[in-house]
Amino acid sequence: MAKLLHIDASPRGDRSHSRRLTREFVEAWKKANPIDTIIYRDLGRNPIPHVTEAWIAAAFTPEKERSHQMRQTLGLSDELVDELFATDVYVMGIPMYNWSVTSGFKAYIDNIVRINRTWAYIPDENPEFPYKPLVHGKKMFVIASRGDGGFAPGERNHQRDFQIPLIKEVFGMLGISDITFIAVENDEYGGQKLADSLTAARSRIYELVAA
Ligand SMILES: Cc1cc2nc3c(=O)[nH]c(=O)nc-3n(C[C@H](O)[C@H](O)[C@H](O)COP(=O)(O)O)c2cc1C
Repeated sequence: MAKLLHIDASPRGDRSHSRRLTREFVEAWKKANPIDTIIYRDLGRNPIPHVTEAWIAAAFTPEKERSHQMRQTLGLSDELVDELFATDVYVMGIPMYNWSVTSGFKAYIDNIVRINRTWAYIPDENPEFPYKPLVHGKKMFVIASRGDGGFAPGERNHQRDFQIPLIKEVFGMLGISDITFIAVENDEYGGQKLADSLTAARSRIYELVAA
């Protein structure tokens, strides 16, 4: 029985395409797997704090040496990391903002990339890339929304896409490399272009859930 982590990163409510599509994904998933557990985080509507100097000092202090205050400082980060381990399938709606992800989603990334929890520093094993992943066996689906289009390889905006490469790199470093991206594009044009992109995204979602 799979456990699912559902995250929305758009600050928008009903206008958000990624939010609507993650909801549809999860609804379709629930129909196929009615007894799954679902953990929900709304990073867009309930932003989590960015990391602070106190957070950094606590995270890089060995666990056994942390003061009570340090453990409190890491409380939310620990909770977010626990959610990654407690679930098997992640469904995340992540808009492109200024060619990258929203700052709220970046704050989430900074809170879950935790030394000795989600990755370990082991230079002896691989001096070229000493970051060892500690999260295994997860499957991730990302609804990547964008206002423009043309981000596929060879297309006009491909070199401006710092959204999908960032997500791949960061989650890959933690050991989450089975990631399927479903793009929703053309929000800024609207009309048929947007409608076609939404239709394609929906059929991909139903295909993936059925598989
Ligand atoms: C602050 C801001 C920055 C944005 N930057 C980009 C961008 O760099 N490239 C792009 O294609 N769309 C950009 N967009 C458009 C959003 O990606 C688009 O509206 C998307 O649908 C937002 O996701 P949502 O519908 O889930 O809210 C931006 C929108 C906002 C509000």
